[in-house]
Amino acid sequence: MSPTAPTIVTRLADYRVPEFLIEKTQLTFELHEAHTDVSSQLTLVRNPQGSQAAHLELHGEQLELLTLAIDDRVLTSKDYRTTPQNLTIYNVPERFVLHCTTRIYPEKNTALEGLYRSSGMYCTQCEAEGFRKITYYLDRPDVMSEFETVIIADEGAFSTMLSNGNCVSDTVKDGKRIVHWHDPFKKPSYLFALVAGNLACLEDHFTTQSGRQVLLQIYTAAKDQDKCHFAMQSLKKAMRWDEQTYGREYDLDRFMIVAVDDFNMGAMENKGLNVFNTSCVLAHPASTTDAAFRRVEGVIGHEYFHNWSGNRVTCRDWFQLSLKEGLTVFRDSEFSADMNSRAVKRIEDANVIRSVQFVEDAGPMAHPVRPESYMEISNFYTVTIYEKGAEVVRMLANILGPTLYRQATDLYFSRFDGQAVTCDDFVQCMEEVSSKDLSQFRLWYSQAGTPHLQISDSYDAARQQYSLTIRQYTPATPGQTDKKALHIPFKIALYDNQAALPLVINGQNQGTETVLDICQDEQTIVFEQVTEPPIPSLLRGFSAPVKISYDYQLLQLQQLILLDNDGFCRWDAMQNLMRMVLSKTIDGANNHAEQAALIAVIKQLLTNHAMMDAALLACMLSLPNSPYLASLYEKADPVAISQARTQLQDQIAAELQTELLNCYQVLQDQTHGLTAPAMAARSLRNAALAYLLHIDEVRYRELAQQQFAQANNMTDQYAALCALVYAEHAEATAQEALAAFYQQWQHEALVVNMWFQVQATRPWGDVLQTVRKLLSHEAFDARNPNKLRAVIAAFASRNFAQFHDKSGQGYQFLAEQIADIDQRNPQMASRLLTPLTHWHQFTDAHAALMRAALESLTQRELSKDVYEVVSKSLH
Ligand code: ARG
Ligand code: ZN
Repeated sequence: MSPTAPTIVTRLADYRVPEFLIEKTQLTFELHEAHTDVSSQLTLVRNPQGSQAAHLELHGEQLELLTLAIDDRVLTSKDYRTTPQNLTIYNVPERFVLHCTTRIYPEKNTALEGLYRSSGMYCTQCEAEGFRKITYYLDRPDVMSEFETVIIADEGAFSTMLSNGNCVSDTVKDGKRIVHWHDPFKKPSYLFALVAGNLACLEDHFTTQSGRQVLLQIYTAAKDQDKCHFAMQSLKKAMRWDEQTYGREYDLDRFMIVAVDDFNMGAMENKGLNVFNTSCVLAHPASTTDAAFRRVEGVIGHEYFHNWSGNRVTCRDWFQLSLKEGLTVFRDSEFSADMNSRAVKRIEDANVIRSVQFVEDAGPMAHPVRPESYMEISNFYTVTIYEKGAEVVRMLANILGPTLYRQATDLYFSRFDGQAVTCDDFVQCMEEVSSKDLSQFRLWYSQAGTPHLQISDSYDAARQQYSLTIRQYTPATPGQTDKKALHIPFKIALYDNQAALPLVINGQNQGTETVLDICQDEQTIVFEQVTEPPIPSLLRGFSAPVKISYDYQLLQLQQLILLDNDGFCRWDAMQNLMRMVLSKTIDGANNHAEQAALIAVIKQLLTNHAMMDAALLACMLSLPNSPYLASLYEKADPVAISQARTQLQDQIAAELQTELLNCYQVLQDQTHGLTAPAMAARSLRNAALAYLLHIDEVRYRELAQQQFAQANNMTDQYAALCALVYAEHAEATAQEALAAFYQQWQHEALVVNMWFQVQATRPWGDVLQTVRKLLSHEAFDARNPNKLRAVIAAFASRNFAQFHDKSGQGYQFLAEQIADIDQRNPQMASRLLTPLTHWHQFTDAHAALMRAALESLTQRELSKDVYEVVSKSLH
C-alpha cells in the first residue's frame, strides 16, 4: 500500500455531540468566470451539552482563506490554525458571529462535490461532506441551521440563480444581479444547494391537502423543456401519494427541480431545490424507454419523499444514513407499486437484493445497515444501506400492520420534526405504538450478512399434519464472526394442485396465508388438518431479505408457476426451475427432466399469455442473472455460467419459436401509448423478440430490423437494437442499425449513452476492443459520470461473460480506468471498482486475476475513496 495513503477511520462509538451550534448561516456567493468568493456569517453558540472545549474546530477542504473575523475583530495567524481538513480557532467566546471569506474554483472541480460547473451552469452537491469544499463549517448533519443565501453575478450572465427556500429579492445594482434566498426550515449543510445558469423552466402548481398553493418548477436546458412533463406529473402524484399514505404535506411555497448533465449519483434532495441527474428527470416517449420512465417516476418520488424522511427529520450522524435512505427507498418503492404493477415492482426489488445486495453482504465490503466505521462515507451509499435498509423498514411495516405502522410514522415525524436522530429512535416509535418487543429485530441494523434458511418438511398422513422445520444461520462477515439468530417474518401459504389451502396452526385458523415469526436457530411449525402432502409457497412477497433453500420437486415448481397467486413466488418458482436446469448444465450433469419441465411450463404460459399480466410473464421469462447464479457457488466459473445461460436461451427459443412468434405477433396491436397495459405488452413482446433472435434465421433478423425501423417509441426501438447487437449471427444488420441509431440520436446525450451501453454489453466477440474504441469516440467524455456508467460500468458490471474473460484483460482494463478516473473523480472511481471486489465468488484462476488487478492499484497514489475499497477488498 502506498505510504501516503490516508487511513483515518471514523467510528460510530466515537460519536460526540457538537461543541457549537450554528443558529444562523448567511452566505454570499460572488460568481466570477475563474473563481467564486464565498463570504459566510455564522452565528455560533456553544452547545450546553458539549464538553466546553476552548477551541472551535470547523471542517474545510480545498479552500483559500481570504478573511476571518469574530464579531468586529479581524483574526491574525496566531488566533487560528488551518490543516488540509480543518480550521481551528483558539479560545472563542460563548456566542459570536464568525465572518469568513473563502475563494474556490468551481471550474476546476472535477470531483463533482461542493460547487462545480456542469455544461456551463453552476450547481452543488453537498451530501455527504461536500459543503466543507464551499466554506469552513460544522459540516455534520446534527448541526442544523437557518440559511440565507445571496448570489451575485454579472447582470445578464445567468437567467436562473437559485438556492433553498423562498426568493426574498432579486435586484440589479452596479451591473450586478443580486438574488437573495431564505430557507425558514433549519437544515444541515448537506442539504444546501445553489444553482446558476441559463435554464428554461416548466411551471405548474399543486394544492396541498390543507389548501396551500405550491409553485412547482423544473429547470433544464432549453432544448430539454419538452422532456419534463412526465417528471412534473410524477411529482404531483408523489405529493398526493405522500399526503394520502403518510399524511405528509409539502411545507414551502415552492418546490424546484434542476436537471444537470454531470452528476455522480441519481439525484439529491436539497431542501426545496432538488438537483437531478438528467437521466432521472428527462423523459419523452420518443427517446426514453419504459423502464427509464418508471425510474424517473421512482426517483422523483424518492427525492420528494425525503422532504420529510431526511430533511424535516434528518440523521444524527452518517452511520444513521439508512434512517433516511432505507425509509425513503421503502416509501418510493410502495409509491411505484401503487402507480404500476405491484408484483413486478416487488420482483425487481427482490432481484436487486438477491443479485447485488447478497453479493455485497457475502464479500469483503459487507457492512451492517448501520455501519460501525468508515474511512470515506461516500463509499457507504450502498445497496445494503439503501435497499436492504428499505427491506428492514418493510419488515417493520409488515410486523406492525398498516394501521400501527402509520401511527408509528406519525409519531416519528411529529416527535423528531426539526431534529437529527438515529435508527434506534425510529424503531423505538415502532415499538411504542405497537407494544411489540423489537429488541431481537434491532439486530437487522447491527448485524451484517445474509441469513440462510434451510427448510425441510414432512407429512404425517395418519395425523393429517404437515411439519415445516426452518433452520437459520448467518455466515461470518469481516469483523463479525459471531452471528445471532434474527427475527425473520416469514410469509407462507400451502397449495394443493388447485388452490391455496386453509392454514390451521395450534387449532387456530389462519386463512390461506400467514406470517411465521422465525426467531430461533431452529423452529418447527405444524400445520393441522392437511389432507394430502401440500406444496409450500415460501417467503411470499419476499417477506424478508434472506436466502432460502428447500428441495422442490419439478412438479411442485410447475404448479407454483401456474397457480401461485403471489407474483413474487410465481417468478421465484420459475427462477428455481431455470436454476435447476442451469446448474446441471454447469456441472455437466444430465438435465433432460428439468429441461422438459421448464419448456413445458413456459409453453403453457406463452400459449395462455392473455390470461395473465404480461409484465409479470415478461419477468418470468428472463433467466436468473449471472451474478445471482455465481452467488450460489462456493467458487463460481463465470465462463461456464455465461455459456449455460446462452445455451438455455438458445434452447428455449428453438423449442418454443412458434409460441414466441405467435405471442410477438398477437401483442402487436396492444403496444401503443404510455398506459400500463401497453407497457406490459411491450415488455412481453420484446422478451419474445430477444428469444427469437437466438435463432439464426433471416426472418427473425428482419423482424427485429423492421421493429427497429418502424418503432414509434424508444422502448421498441431500443429492444430491437439490443436484440440485433446481442445476436452474433446478426452482426451486419446490427452494424447498420447502430449507425442509423447514432445518426438519429446523436444530439440526445441520454440516448447516445444507451448506444454506448448496448455495445459495451454485447455478450460475444472482442468487446474490450469495442469498449476501447468507444472511449475515444467523439461523443465520449471521461469527465461525465453518465458516460462512464454507459461504457465502463456497463462493461464491468453488466457484461458478465466479457468482463470475466479468462485472459483477465477485462479486470486489468477496469483497474487502469479506475486509476485514471480517480485523479479527477474519486467517488466515481470508487463505485466503478465494485465488480473487482467480488473476486471471492470465483474460481481460483479468476480470483487471482481479479486480485492482481486490485493489487496493481495499490502501486498508485489513491484517493481515500478508492484506497478504502481496495484495501478492504484485498484483506
Ligand atoms: N441523498 C441522495 C439520494 O437521494 C444521494 C446523494 C448522495 N451523494 C453522494 N455523492 N454520496 O439518494
Ligand atoms: Zn435518498
